[in-house]
Amino acid sequence: MADDAPEEEEIHQWDSPDQFPDNLKKYWFQRFQIWSLYDKGVWMTEDAWFGVTPEPIANKIATHISESMPKGTTTIIDAFSGVGGNAIAFARCGAFNEVFAIEKDPITMKCAKHNAKLYGVTNINFIVGDSLVEIKKRFLGRTNLIIFASPPWGGTEYGATDVFDLSLMEPYNLDKLYKTYSRVSKHLVLYLPRTSDLNQIAQYAPEGKKVEVAHYCIQGHSKALCAYFGDFDFGEDLVE
Ligand SMILES: C[S@@+](CC[C@H](N)C(=O)[O-])C[C@H]1O[C@@H](n2cnc3c(N)ncnc32)[C@H](O)[C@@H]1O
Repeated sequence: MADDAPEEEEIHQWDSPDQFPDNLKKYWFQRFQIWSLYDKGVWMTEDAWFGVTPEPIANKIATHISESMPKGTTTIIDAFSGVGGNAIAFARCGAFNEVFAIEKDPITMKCAKHNAKLYGVTNINFIVGDSLVEIKKRFLGRTNLIIFASPPWGGTEYGATDVFDLSLMEPYNLDKLYKTYSRVSKHLVLYLPRTSDLNQIAQYAPEGKKVEVAHYCIQGHSKALCAYFGDFDFGEDLVE
């Protein structure tokens, strides 16, 4: 265990199953699947366990984006960085000149900064703020951007229905996310529940163009999907 223990009581570095509250116990068994360096002292908040992208999936998404990114794009913005799962993978993959990570909760952002350091990553530009505001304010007019967004999946109890209605996703539904971010960049990757309604996603495909959707699996089970809007080029084989 690392010796730099967090000062904030909301941040934890649990290293035994007894420390995990009942509703989070299952994550004790998944901890190394989520963070390969978990026992080096990863910082988490209780909420972060529900939303963090497991490292193998974050790495795969970073690879997919880097292999398919539209010509001229050099910068990636993680609009909901959380404790850093995706942002760290983007920075580690080495394909982007710039990586920005935006998170509205300062405590969660503190975890992301710490975790990035733990993974030897020093080139993420961290921004505390509301990404729906900050992205427009800071990046409007730039043409080299990819926006990646893994928003909270609140709303209809996730998993309670066979098909997740993206118009009910809270606090930001698909329409809100798509319209807000696509004003700044048409190259947009949304990380969404695996049961997301694909017909709703397809409604945002530009005339005559496709939206690529990839499922990301752990141990044979889909954990989530990414919808790729814009000029990503996967050739014929976005199959994992
Ligand atoms: C599903 S988590 C992201 C997890 C992240 N991909 C990871 O691997 O750690 C969503 C995060 O978005 C943050 N958030 C919610 N609304 C936001 C907003 N408007 N701008 C920036 N961050 C926001 C939440 O605090 C939460 O940490």
